Amino acid sequence: MTEPKLAVVILAAGQGTRMKSSIPKVLHPVGNRPMVQHVLDVADGIGAAQKVIVVAPGDKEVEKLAEAHGAVAVVQEHQRGTGHAVAATEGALAGFDGTLLVLFGDTPLLTAATLKALLACMGKDASIAALGFRAGDPTGYGRMVCDGDRLLAIVEHKDATREERSIDLCFAGILAVDAKMLFDLLRRVKNQNAQGEFYLTDVIALARGIGLSSRPAEGSAEEMMGVNTQAQLAEAEAAYQTRRRAELMEAGVSFAAPETVFLSADTVIEQGVRIGPYVVFAPGVKVLGGAEIKAFSHLEGAVVGKGAVVGPFARLRPGANLQEDVHVGNFVEVKNTILERGAKANHLSYLGDARVGAGTNIGAGTITCNYDGFGKYRTDIGKNVFVGSNTALVAPVKLGNDSIVAAGSVITKDVEAGALAIARGQQEIRPGGAERVRAKAKARKRTRKKG
Ligand code: UD1
Ligand code: MG
Repeated sequence: MTEPKLAVVILAAGQGTRMKSSIPKVLHPVGNRPMVQHVLDVADGIGAAQKVIVVAPGDKEVEKLAEAHGAVAVVQEHQRGTGHAVAATEGALAGFDGTLLVLFGDTPLLTAATLKALLACMGKDASIAALGFRAGDPTGYGRMVCDGDRLLAIVEHKDATREERSIDLCFAGILAVDAKMLFDLLRRVKNQNAQGEFYLTDVIALARGIGLSSRPAEGSAEEMMGVNTQAQLAEAEAAYQTRRRAELMEAGVSFAAPETVFLSADTVIEQGVRIGPYVVFAPGVKVLGGAEIKAFSHLEGAVVGKGAVVGPFARLRPGANLQEDVHVGNFVEVKNTILERGAKANHLSYLGDARVGAGTNIGAGTITCNYDGFGKYRTDIGKNVFVGSNTALVAPVKLGNDSIVAAGSVITKDVEAGALAIARGQQEIRPGGAERVRAKAKARKRTRKKG
């Protein structure tokens, strides 16, 4: 077996106190996906054979998420700096012989393409490649001290001279280096600096001291953005949404007003889909080619088939499965229900835990009564059924193929194929009755006034 060549270490043990949140910083979502999961995805995107994440004691949820994505979690007992954090992974990476890429868990906008460019900077003549960006305001960042295409040192803002502070190339916290060399260098890092921390960034100058050279690489400031506050989280979200919309438009999806549509990281929308204004895609949605999602619809955990039309004002909840040419119109809520080819529910309905057969029409105001306060029950509606308006289908119940349910029915028993079901009060007609009712009412009013 060949030795794996690329491993990734993700630092995520920082306290994130500025988020003022009860959940660990790296679990805050961007595009409905935890930030750290974005970083793990990018690691997969560049073919990392091993992923190690450094977490703070007690961050069980981060550990669980990392392990679910094939990463090994290492607990850093005390946060003594980025160098100290990377050093903590040495045991987990014992036996690994190759390039190590250090990433931070709070940079959700980072792309695989940028990391590939960074890795390409390493080679015969450079042992370390470090990723930077040009900051409008570099305050607080480590400055990359360069000589041409050589990186000489990274100096933390708090330790930098006035001259060094005037450098606008800032370290993004991302570094590629031979793993064995990095752990050797880290053993020599000291914490005699302004913050009393073991800086990862010190390895650049240390490497230079033993004749090894480093190279700077540059990426966009937006992509390197680290999230430290709720405001920055919202900023990252906005940038992420802009990016996803652009990707989808590039792939042939039409948006009437892209800036009003919200997407999740896992949203799949095929070429030729049209999306109206103000549509929200919560996690787990797939929309197949030629479908149309009209304004103000909310979709989650749903599949929308080819040529289907959803909305305006539709709500698709988890398990909604709309096959080809299905129509789901305004104020229709669908949950855990398959609508087979060509079925229609155009107005004001709740369809939950049901099957709606091909070609069936669900009238306005139809409700599947799937819950009795204790359990959930299924409604099975066959093909080419016509369900009249304002029908309550009390589950468990079945409507056979080609049956018709009269409007206003409360259906509690199965309806056989081809049958007509009427389950409502009988209509009575009393000629002249309206006038008698009015006369009585007027008389009552007169008596009340006198009394
Ligand atoms: C770090 C860099 C700085 C760079 C900046 C980019 C160092 C010394 N400095 O500074 O050059 O410009 O990032 O944002 O590396 N962490 C741990 N354990 C620790 C300390 C930190 O896991 O003991 C993690 C944090 O969770 C975070 C990352 O490492 O994800 C960076 O730590 P942070 O304290 O934010 O570093 P900066 O001061 O921002
Ligand atoms: Mg910091």
